[in-house]
Formats: sequence, C-alpha cells, structure tokens
Amino acid sequence: MKVVELVEVTKVYELPRGSIKALDNVTASIEAGEFISVMGPSGSGKTTLLNIIGCLDVPTSGEVIIGNEKVNGLSDDELTKIRRDKIGFVFQQFNLIPTLTALENVEYPMILKGVNGHEKRSKGFLRSVGLDEQLGENKPNELSGGEQQRVAIARALANDPDIILADEPTGNLDSKTSKDIMQLLKATNERGKTIIVVTHDPLVAGYTSRTFRLVDGRVM
Ligand SMILES: Nc1ncnc2c1ncn2[C@@H]1O[C@H](COP(=O)(O)OP(=O)(O)OP(=O)(O)O)[C@@H](O)[C@H]1O
Ligand SMILES: [Mg+2]
Repeated sequence: MKVVELVEVTKVYELPRGSIKALDNVTASIEAGEFISVMGPSGSGKTTLLNIIGCLDVPTSGEVIIGNEKVNGLSDDELTKIRRDKIGFVFQQFNLIPTLTALENVEYPMILKGVNGHEKRSKGFLRSVGLDEQLGENKPNELSGGEQQRVAIARALANDPDIILADEPTGNLDSKTSKDIMQLLKATNERGKTIIVVTHDPLVAGYTSRTFRLVDGRVM
C-alpha cells in the first residue's frame, strides 16, 4: 500500500532577486513500512521535499497524495488535520516546547486532538523510547541532546501517525548518541511506521532500506 505519492512535484520560491527551483519535477512513491533516507548536498531540496510530504508546505505544481488523500487544494485547516493525524515530525534542533516538561511535551499533541488518558499514554511512549520515568518531569534544557531527541520521537508517536519525517535528527548529536537514536528509529520502523529521514551522514543512511539522492531539486 502506498503512503506517499508525488507526481511531477515542482517547488519554486519567488525571491526579489529571482526565483529558485527547490524541487524540479520530482516523481516518487513510498510504500507503507518503508524506511527511506534522503541525501544530497546543502540546498539540493531535502528539507523542501520533507516539508511538502509533511503538508507544512505546498508545491507550485504537481500532485501530492498522503495515504489515500490528495493534498492539493486543501485548506490550511485540512492540512493541519492531516499533519496532526497522519504525520509525526522530528527535527535537528529537537523543537520541544521549553516551558513544558518532557512528559507534557509528549502529551501536548494528544491534548490538541482531545485524546483521553494522555498522561498514562505519554508515560508509555517515554518508556518505549527508553527515557527514565523521573526524566519525564525535566524541562528540555535539563535533558541531554540525546534525551531531548528521545522525547521528540515520543511526541512524534503520540497520535499514532502513519509516517514519521525526520530532518537531520542526528545532526546535533555525537556519534554514539546518533547510533542510539537511529536504532530507536529502526525499531519504530519495525513496529510498522513509515519513516523518511534526511541526512548528510552515510552511517545514518545505512540504517535505511532505500535512499533518495537529490541534486539541484531532482531525484537521481
Ligand atoms: N522559504 C524559502 N524561501 C526561499 N527560498 C528557499 C526557502 N526554503 C528553501 N529555499 C531555497 O530552496 C533551495 C532548497 O532548500 P532546502 O532547504 O530544501 O535545502 P536542503 O537540501 O535541505 O539543504 P541543507 O542540507 O542545507 O539543509 C535552496 O536554494 C534554498 O535557499
Ligand atoms: Mg535542510
């Protein structure tokens, strides 16, 4: 079953000094349960591609299908709903809410969605990413980078998404911690989640089963 389908997707950014084609006629499809890496030089369009799959951005032309839903032309509210229900995000800078504890960060998407039993469920997710129960009471700045990324992965799992998108999730971590995080993502993939990870690191790509190589906005 296909979870992502891109048909001739082009993204052009208009700037005062001219336009930039960040994605150039990208056609790709991803099956449920795949573990994909996206590699390519800086500026080649990796983040743009991830943002379009994640419905954070829309293409200039071409078709985007997430699950069985055609995303083109949906309203901002409808895009928000797709993001909330179908997609979990993990970022290089972790992007946790600094004023909330680790546990509250994981609960947050469930509260937005109105899920019952969010505290108990969140504790379960923190346990599943290997974070000590007491650390759930810490704020992000009281956690190591690796621990923060575990919290971010738990948060990404909170609403049971089909797809997890990770933009350089190990970019701020040392090599040992990177391995731990990739093993966690691999285990998450083995439990059935489709994962797409942007990386510059061949060791990270080594965990995945297929690599998209982007050059100048084109998939090679
Ligand atoms: N919001 C934006 N407005 C204008 N141009 C943008 C915008 N976002 C990205 N670009 C341009 O689009 C191109 C692709 O950017 P993108 O961020 O997708 O690259 P990337 O492959 O993720 O690079 P990096 O490895 O440095 O993160 C670049 O030329 C970039 O300058
Ligand atoms: Mg990028």
